[in-house]
Amino acid sequence: MEQNKKYKRFTVTSALPYANGPVHIGHLAGVYVPADIYVRYLRSKGEDVLFIGGSDEHGVPITIKAKQEGVTPQQIVDKYHGIIKQSFKEFGISFDIYSRTSNKIHHETAAEFFTTLYNKGEFIVKTTEQLYDEENKQFLADRYITGTCPFCNNEKAYGDQCEKCGTSLNATDLINPKSVLSGNVPVMKETKHWFLPLDKYEPWLKQWILEEHREWKTNVYGQCKSWLDQGLQPRAVTRDLDWGVKVPLEEAAGKVLYVWFDAPIGYISATKEWAEDKNKKSMVNSQMSIVNSQQSVGDSEPQSTNLVDWKTYWKDPETKLVHFIGKDNIVFHCIVFPAMLHAEGSYILPDNVPANEFLNLESDKISTSRNWAVWLHEYLLEFPNKQDVLRYVLCSNAPETKDNDFTWKDFQLKNNSELVAILGNFVNRVMVLTHKYFNGLVPEITTLNEQDKEVMKAISEFPKRISDSIELYRFREALAEMMNLARAGNKYLAESEPWKIFNTDPERVKTILNISLQICANLTIVMEPFLPFTATKLLGLLNMGALIWADAGKSDLLKPGTQLGTPEFLFTKIEDDVIAKQVQKLMDTKLANEEKELHVTPAKPDISYDDFTKMDIRTGIIMTAEKVAKTQKLLKLTIDTGIDKRTVVSGIAEFYDPEKIIGQKVAILVNLEPRTIKGIKSQGMILMAENPKGTLVFVMPSKDIEAGSLIK
Ligand code: 2FM
Ligand code: ZN
Repeated sequence: MEQNKKYKRFTVTSALPYANGPVHIGHLAGVYVPADIYVRYLRSKGEDVLFIGGSDEHGVPITIKAKQEGVTPQQIVDKYHGIIKQSFKEFGISFDIYSRTSNKIHHETAAEFFTTLYNKGEFIVKTTEQLYDEENKQFLADRYITGTCPFCNNEKAYGDQCEKCGTSLNATDLINPKSVLSGNVPVMKETKHWFLPLDKYEPWLKQWILEEHREWKTNVYGQCKSWLDQGLQPRAVTRDLDWGVKVPLEEAAGKVLYVWFDAPIGYISATKEWAEDKNKKSMVNSQMSIVNSQQSVGDSEPQSTNLVDWKTYWKDPETKLVHFIGKDNIVFHCIVFPAMLHAEGSYILPDNVPANEFLNLESDKISTSRNWAVWLHEYLLEFPNKQDVLRYVLCSNAPETKDNDFTWKDFQLKNNSELVAILGNFVNRVMVLTHKYFNGLVPEITTLNEQDKEVMKAISEFPKRISDSIELYRFREALAEMMNLARAGNKYLAESEPWKIFNTDPERVKTILNISLQICANLTIVMEPFLPFTATKLLGLLNMGALIWADAGKSDLLKPGTQLGTPEFLFTKIEDDVIAKQVQKLMDTKLANEEKELHVTPAKPDISYDDFTKMDIRTGIIMTAEKVAKTQKLLKLTIDTGIDKRTVVSGIAEFYDPEKIIGQKVAILVNLEPRTIKGIKSQGMILMAENPKGTLVFVMPSKDIEAGSLIK
């Protein structure tokens, strides 16, 4: 609603990833690259921006992972927090702070937030029945219960979701529920929890989102509307668990805050931590400068201390709060967290929540558990110094309005035919020509013709187009405009052909190269939010210091006479074999997953020896075999069982030609009740071995033995 409001400062948050695994391209494309582009742009405009990131270190999956690995949850989050933080740093995600929710300051902040709402009487308390593991004396979170999915019979469905058919479940829906901890059947037991009455805030939320934030992205607005139309229910904000922020109430011993209650408060705790660190540093600096000024004879003034207050970033209505998240976080950032902030009463609310949809990988959903991902820490090793290539590809293909697909072919194409062929090529041509004709010294403009004036006008128009798109959170569009500036440069060079006229008109060539170099200087500014490493490299080549957004559009940024650096390629071609290796890596993963999934046929329940001896299994020989008409799979066989010669219908036609199995020795269950299959009476069953892929082969005696021998 307040589209044109001028804000004094910006608090930009990016979803806190769970510290139970490394981060992948889906994280980068969905949240961190767009957020980073936005804050880099704002900083270039000279805005006061605070960019918050951190690890979400609570929640049940972390405790499960710790159990599986036989370590503590703290050890799990320590490990992944380190890996995640390092990956973000290497990709140039320019957080002002990357914090973590296991920090003391966060526990205090989250507990205090809870207490404020508690004291205001905002919570309702309810006693409900939950599944409980009697052996471990523990209530079971949904993830701690597995059982058979009532929809697809997957025997490994979780209490909250079946990962095979994707259905959301209640733990009580599961057939044969079992505790992951003990394997026992859980019992129902009463427990008390604190609930945030979202239904109470519903009218306010409807007004605030549906009326006052019609400008939100359609995917975000649509999801909110559908939640609000369905009607909101109170949500429990506490859990029976021992990992998380302790509920600050005596009567709540053994309970922690629900991870989705504490995690968004993590943005606030991180801001406090940032302010404390920054203020400590400025105090030290100012003390040092007092000492220095006392020691020096001159009249230098001590530096004034610039203290920051975390509250201005969260409580001043002149601060614009923006949350960057993925679509699975929409309800928490648009409905639950704002309701918490509203109930607390002293905080600002997000101005926008530009959530992205999902990025798929080679047409399949990215999945941590199935290892179907391009992991950032692996990319950094396999593609050294190519962070900007991935940033570029992920932004140009960002799932801004719908789910999108990352493919290695497309990655190669965008690198080779856009970054190398358009952007890199333009800069390189200008650099090489300037070195060839003017020893690398920036020439001056002599006279301007119509073509030059047109190009200069175009240069002046790009920044606004790019900033308009960025401010509307349309980063793909903004990136495309940045590339159009490089295209315009290539077109200008191609049309003015300086290499053809240098001998006859060197003065004209000076102007052409000066303007081309001004385009390069402009590119350093407008590419920086998207390709920060390349921008720095290009500034080095141009021998310039960093520029600011207000300089973009100008045609006099690079002074005549400046000595340029030695030409170097900004990007290099990625060859087919490099891409083939990545594709192969994914195919190997797929294969490994298929084998894993296929091998998990669980053992059947025990039977008694008597049960076993009821089966009369013997060796037999196939005498005749023919296909059963109008079927794909069935063969009609005559078997010599040693007792008799009988007919058996068997579903093996896909694996054996009838004419090739005459004389085949088999194992046959002779006392199976006769069944009529396709009008043929089948007496008994041929035993087959079936591998995980469903291939059937005969089970046969290892040495010659007469038909009718007992198998026991
Ligand atoms: O979906 C997730 O990965 C969550 N850990 C995001 C939390 S965002 C915020 F609330 F901290
Ligand atoms: Zn299912």
